[in-house]
Amino acid sequence: MRLAKFLAHAGVASRRGAEGIVAEGRVTVDGEVVTDPARDVDETSGVALDGRRIAPEPHEVHALNKPAGVVSTARDTHGRPTVVQLVRSPRRLYPVGRLDADTTGLILLTNDGKLAERLTHPRYGVKKVYRARIQPARLSPRALEALREGVELEDGRTAPAEVRQPAPGVLELTIREGRKRQVRRMVEAVGHRVVELERVAFGPLGLRNLEPGKSRRLTKPEVERLRRLSEPRSGRPPRGRAKSARAPRAKPAAKPAGAPKPAAKATRGRNPRPRRPQR
Ligand code: URA
Repeated sequence: MRLAKFLAHAGVASRRGAEGIVAEGRVTVDGEVVTDPARDVDETSGVALDGRRIAPEPHEVHALNKPAGVVSTARDTHGRPTVVQLVRSPRRLYPVGRLDADTTGLILLTNDGKLAERLTHPRYGVKKVYRARIQPARLSPRALEALREGVELEDGRTAPAEVRQPAPGVLELTIREGRKRQVRRMVEAVGHRVVELERVAFGPLGLRNLEPGKSRRLTKPEVERLRRLSEPRSGRPPRGRAKSARAPRAKPAAKPAGAPKPAAKATRGRNPRPRRPQR
């Protein structure tokens, strides 16, 4: 990890602040003054500030039931509330992946960068379960099948998903990827629209009785389960697409606030033809 990041994670300062501290020559690594904030260090490197050893911060993982209107970034340039503000912790936490501002439900926050990376990278194939209210309410068997097999989106075909329609107008989708607005785009690709979206499970964790806006710190056994879940399994090909094999992601052009959300590009012939909304 970069030295400045290590210091920031230890709670010394922000990453930018830590870079300044390093540049001032106040930081040593194994007794040697280091002024390069990019120096690669870990907890065994003997990092010290003003002669005092810096201990790495203990790791925490929290589960939050994100309400609508809250953004899942550490800071928002538009001044909207953030998921970080809803979790009480002395640590510098950041969200594990993203939920759209209008999506509700389970989001994890942690200061453990390695765990966060593993939980979000498609290679580890961690399941996320979403419950969507959709319109029109009834999906054809063909649309269900298309969602299960994978639909063609502008950034490539989606991996197979588990899909259930427990009631008309309700769709439960289990996916192992985490592309931008993926569920909404998948549903649009088969001619429907998501009117409400909630994430109800992340790996082995469900929302249980967590009220919207409330969070709780995960127990040690829960964190252990998450760690084991995202351990690379030897001899087993990773799920999802390897980075190198991945179709290039289309970079969405900047849109003025209030602009319509990008529509999915449904490929006719593979995905069912989008149907007109019914009443
Ligand atoms: N898929 C979406 O479309 N939105 C989310 O917030 C998460 C998954």
